[in-house]
Parts: sequence; C-alpha cells; structure tokens
Amino acid sequence: MAITLAALAGLAFALARPAPYGSDQSPCDTIYHGYQCQDEISHYWGQYSPYFSVPSDIPDKLPQGCSITFAQILSRHGARDPTASKTAQYNATIHKLQANVKNFTGPYAFLADYEYTLGADQLTVFGQQELINSGIKYYNRYEQLTSHLTPFVRSSGEARVVESAQNWTQGFQAAKFADRRSGRADTSYPYPIVVIPETDGENNTLNHGWYYVFLLIVCNAFESGPDDNIASDAQAQWAAVFIPPIRSRLNAALPGANLTVAETVYMMDLCPFNTVASSNSTISAFCALFTKEEWHQYSYYETLNKYYGFSYGNPLGPTQGVGYSNELIARLTSRPVDDESSTNHTLDSSNVTFALGRRLYADFSHDNDMTAIFSALGLYNGTTGLLPNTTILEAPQANGYSAAWTVPFAARAYFEKMECFGQREELVRVMVNDRVLPLTQCGGDHLGRCTLDAFVDSLGFARGDGDWDQCFVGNHTS
Ligand SMILES: *[C@@H]1O[C@H](CO)[C@@H](O)[C@H](O)[C@H]1NC(C)=O
Ligand SMILES: *[C@@H]1O[C@H](CO)[C@@H](O)[C@H](O)[C@H]1NC(C)=O
Ligand SMILES: *[C@@H]1O[C@H](CO)[C@@H](O)[C@H](O)[C@H]1NC(C)=O
Ligand SMILES: *[C@@H]1O[C@H](CO)[C@@H](O)[C@H](O)[C@H]1NC(C)=O
Ligand SMILES: *[C@@H]1O[C@H](CO)[C@@H](O)[C@H](O)[C@H]1NC(C)=O
Ligand SMILES: *[C@@H]1O[C@H](CO)[C@@H](O)[C@H](O)[C@H]1NC(C)=O
Ligand SMILES: *[C@@H]1O[C@H](CO)[C@@H](O)[C@H](O)[C@H]1NC(C)=O
Ligand SMILES: *[C@@H]1O[C@H](CO)[C@@H](O)[C@H](O)[C@H]1NC(C)=O
Ligand SMILES: *[C@@H]1O[C@H](CO)[C@@H](O)[C@H](O)[C@H]1NC(C)=O
Ligand SMILES: *[C@@H]1O[C@H](CO)[C@@H](O)[C@H](O)[C@H]1NC(C)=O
Repeated sequence: MAITLAALAGLAFALARPAPYGSDQSPCDTIYHGYQCQDEISHYWGQYSPYFSVPSDIPDKLPQGCSITFAQILSRHGARDPTASKTAQYNATIHKLQANVKNFTGPYAFLADYEYTLGADQLTVFGQQELINSGIKYYNRYEQLTSHLTPFVRSSGEARVVESAQNWTQGFQAAKFADRRSGRADTSYPYPIVVIPETDGENNTLNHGWYYVFLLIVCNAFESGPDDNIASDAQAQWAAVFIPPIRSRLNAALPGANLTVAETVYMMDLCPFNTVASSNSTISAFCALFTKEEWHQYSYYETLNKYYGFSYGNPLGPTQGVGYSNELIARLTSRPVDDESSTNHTLDSSNVTFALGRRLYADFSHDNDMTAIFSALGLYNGTTGLLPNTTILEAPQANGYSAAWTVPFAARAYFEKMECFGQREELVRVMVNDRVLPLTQCGGDHLGRCTLDAFVDSLGFARGDGDWDQCFVGNHTS
C-alpha cells in the first residue's frame, strides 16, 4: 500500500507546478488530461483507449460563486491485459504468423522476433498508475471537500477492479499528504472498501448478473436470451464493411499468413494491448500497421459492441444500470434506496455497506456496467435513432457517445452537486471523462446544470425500475 518515496517526491514536484503535468511513470500520460501520445489514433481504440480528457463544449472547471457539496466518482478499472480467452487467441495468431510467413519486411519486420508476453485479466503497471493519477486528480478537483473528508468507497469484486480502487485511494491519500506538507498522516487510511462479489446471482449494482443459476435468476432474458446476440450481430455487419480491405493488405504483405476476419481484428487489438502493457505506455509497433481512418473504423466497431450490448441498442441494456441509478438518487437526496431491480436490500439498508449523508463517494466497476448506468440515467439519449451498422457515426454527431469517449481504461464519471450564490436550490452536474454533459433532459443551463429536483424528475426510467419486469418473460425453461 505504501507510496514510494520517489512517487511522493514526484508528486510534491508536480503539485508545485501548474497543471497539466505528467506522472513520473509515463511520458505519454498526464494526471489532468490522460493519455496524449499520438492522440489522432490513441483516442480511437474504443474501450481499449487509455483515459484522456474528452473535448467539452462546456468548460469543466467549477463555476464561479459555487461551492461543491457532493462529489461521486464512478470509475472503470485501469488498463489491463487481454481477457484469458483473448490472450490465448492473440498468442495463437502470432504463432500462426510466425510459423507460416517466411519473410517479414517493412513495417512488419518487428514481427519476425516479436514475442507474445501479455498476461490475462490483470491490471498492467500503467493501468495501476492511471488509477493513482485519477485519485490525485479527484483530490485536487474537490479539494474544498477532500482536504477534510474521506470518500466512501465501493468496488465490484473482480481482482483488477479492487486493485484499481486501492490504487485510486493511494493517489488520493498521496495528494492529501502532499497538500499538508506538515506531514500529518490521515489516520483513516487505508480507507475501508466495500467489496461486492461478482458471483452468480449476487445483486451487485456494479456488475450485472451473468448466468441463469438454479433459483437465482438475474435478468435471464438479457443474460441468456436473444438480446445476448444483438451486439455481435451489429459488429459483424460493420466488420463486413471495413475489415476486407485491411485483411487483403495484411495478407498480401505477409505471404502465407492467410489471416481471417477475426484475426485481422486481433492484429488491431494488439496495438492498444501492447501499448498499455509497456511500463511507460509507449505506442506499440502494431499501431503503425493501420491508418488513422482505420482506427476510426476500429473504434466504431467497439462502440457498436457497447451500444448494442448495454445501451439503447439493446432492449434490456439500460435496465442493467437501473439499480445503480436508484442508489445515486438515494445519495443525492439522502433518502433510502427505492428500487426493485437489481439492488441488494441487505447491503443498501446498512450504513456500513451503503452510507447515506456522505459528501464523497467512489465506486469502481467495468465498462459494460458503466455503459448501462449512463444509459439508465438517460445520458446520450438523443434524437439520432439507433447507431448505424454500416457507416460510422462519430461521437460529436452521436450525442457525444462512443466507447472511447465514455468507457476507456480508467474512465471516470463525476456526479457533482453544488450550491451557488443567488440560487436557492442545489444544482447537479455530470461529467464523463471531463466532458460536461448538457443534461438537456432536465433543462440543463449553459453550464450543464439542472436543479436537483429536475434531475431526479428526469430519472423516471430508473425510478420505475426500467424494464426489469421484462427480464423474466420469454422462452426460458428451467
Ligand atoms: C525478403 O523480402 C525482401 C523484400 O521483398 C527481399 O529483398 C528479401 O530478399 C527477402 N528475403 C528473403 C530471405 O526471402
Ligand atoms: C503462447 O503459446 C505458446 C505455444 O502454445 C506457449 O508455449 C506460450 O506459453 C504462450 N504464451 C503466452 C504468453 O501465453
Ligand atoms: C496498486 O495497488 C496494488 C494493490 O494494493 C499494489 O500492489 C500496487 O503496488 C499498486 N500499484 C502501484 C503502481 O503503486
Ligand atoms: C446481499 O448481500 C448480502 C451481504 O453481503 C449477501 O450475503 C447476499 O448473498 C446478497 N444477496 C443477494 C441476492 O445478492
Ligand atoms: C444494427 O444491428 C442490430 C443487430 O442486428 C439491429 O438490432 C439494429 O436494428 C441494427 N441497426 C440499424 C440502424 O439498422
Ligand atoms: C486460408 O484459410 C482458410 C480458412 O480460414 C482456408 O479455408 C484456406 O484454405 C486457407 N488458404 C490458404 C492458401 O492456406
Ligand atoms: C519505454 O519502454 C521501452 C521498453 O518497454 C523502451 O524500449 C523505451 O526506451 C522506453 N521509452 C521511454 C521514453 O522511456
Ligand atoms: C435481488 O434482486 C431480486 C430481483 O429484483 C429481488 O427479488 C431480491 O429481493 C434482491 N435480493 C436482495 C437481497 O435484495
Ligand atoms: C449506523 O447505524 C447504527 C444502527 O442504526 C447506529 O447505531 C450507528 O450510529 C450508525 N453509524 C453511523 C456511522 O451512522
Ligand atoms: C430515451 O429517450 C426516449 C425518447 O425520448 C424515452 O422514451 C426513453 O425513456 C429515454 N430513456 C431513458 C433511459 O431515459
């Protein structure tokens, strides 16, 4: 848990300088604006992009004459290795290439002695540093509150998520320590973290249920019914458009390779995964095998996965985020959780596992769950209709929605309440990766703010438990 002396020295140095400044771990990553190397491609890796500040039409700084009264962060874990099944497939693809291609030339030359060394599922060192940076940034942004209060922290149970929560509190605590150069220790550190297991049938609002298990049905129609195939179907349609030219080019340049469509996508995946696996997050040689336009196409391919898997493209996607939305309402209004979807009433009625009346909260989760939560909250729910499967709709034209803009590695949403001079009611604001959402659904003002009442009123979908009742209709038999 201990912060190294070098990190502390770097931090003290950093705090003495105006933002933005870089962490001492990576020349590509900065505490305040995230990953910036080759941003014309690295911000187009879908959910495999490392966190970066998303362009915002509304300034993200604290409005003048206001003081923050509440700040909740909902964070994705940091950059990780590929999942276990993907890492096996990537490795097999590399072995197939090296077995069949006799001559690697030009930009492909590095493949001749590239060694596949990526692990599975765990945070990379860079991913840990992303969360340390996130804790520092949050501390400094909300210094009015963080200098004298500690956050109430929850984490979904998978190891990389819990570790992310720990690294975030490390950064938070280090910033607090540096803030009080006198060196007075924060005696409540390490802060307690409520870890909610991801086991089947657990009502975990930071992780949707996975499987139908005997007598423990967690939204069965979503998890194992027909809705389960929509995302892969949408992606296959888009892959049929953009992958063939890329595949032909690779196969022509690598005689004997005979890469499939899926393997061509894997070759692209290896760019972000090798980048975040290098300790200084240097852009990998895989990235140069593809054009800028192809990275936009790839990013959209990942966007379709999230949108048709967990957002408005899936009939039960937004419903997976209802439990968390109702917990957010409870915290914003200091009233008990009112929810009959996926919350755990035992956890949410205890002040040990779900404290009400706090001002600082931090929750740690996954990209899919955050996508569902944003959707249940009505964010990005514009008038453009379903995302097209055969042409790109870039984020600025899609109500600000894309996988890279919403759920990159170490993604973070801030839910803020503020009291402002001359304003009787408390105001709410939502930021996703530093982009202030306009909140038109509750009459957001020019700074993206709604009154608390108007914000809660706009959450009728969540307050009515979404379409949870449809989780159990359909053809499932036990
Ligand atoms: C590899 O390809 C390059 C360029 O086409 C060629 O010059 C070279 O002779 C080839 N080497 C082998 C070992 O085939
Ligand atoms: C990759 O596959 C090879 C051959 O099956 C195996 O020996 C090696 O351990 C694998 N490497 C990784 C990092 O999974
Ligand atoms: C992140 O947290 C884990 C678990 O507490 C710790 O082992 C690791 O050293 C931390 N990472 C860094 C970069 O400090
Ligand atoms: C609710 O949480 C309690 C306490 O952690 C746990 O024992 C129980 O299994 C959970 N129940 C469900 C249905 O999630
Ligand atoms: C995209 O494909 C999905 C899955 O087949 C489908 O549900 C959706 O309607 C398609 N979107 C459009 C705009 O056609
Ligand atoms: C390429 O792979 C496909 C299977 O994906 C196979 O049917 C075909 O015979 C292979 N072609 C060559 C030239 O090896
Ligand atoms: C980044 O790390 C790689 C090896 O992981 C090394 O080759 C490279 O020189 C490093 N670059 C910088 C700028 O530190
Ligand atoms: C878990 O969710 C189910 C489905 O909404 C609900 O019936 C059950 O009461 C919940 N369990 C707990 C412990 O809150
Ligand atoms: C939590 O609830 C218990 C029982 O209702 C009460 O005694 C205790 O003071 C509460 N603790 C906090 C920190 O609010
Ligand atoms: C999204 O917008 C549509 C159309 O206005 C509305 O019917 C739906 O309830 C909204 N969904 C959410 C989750 O707010």
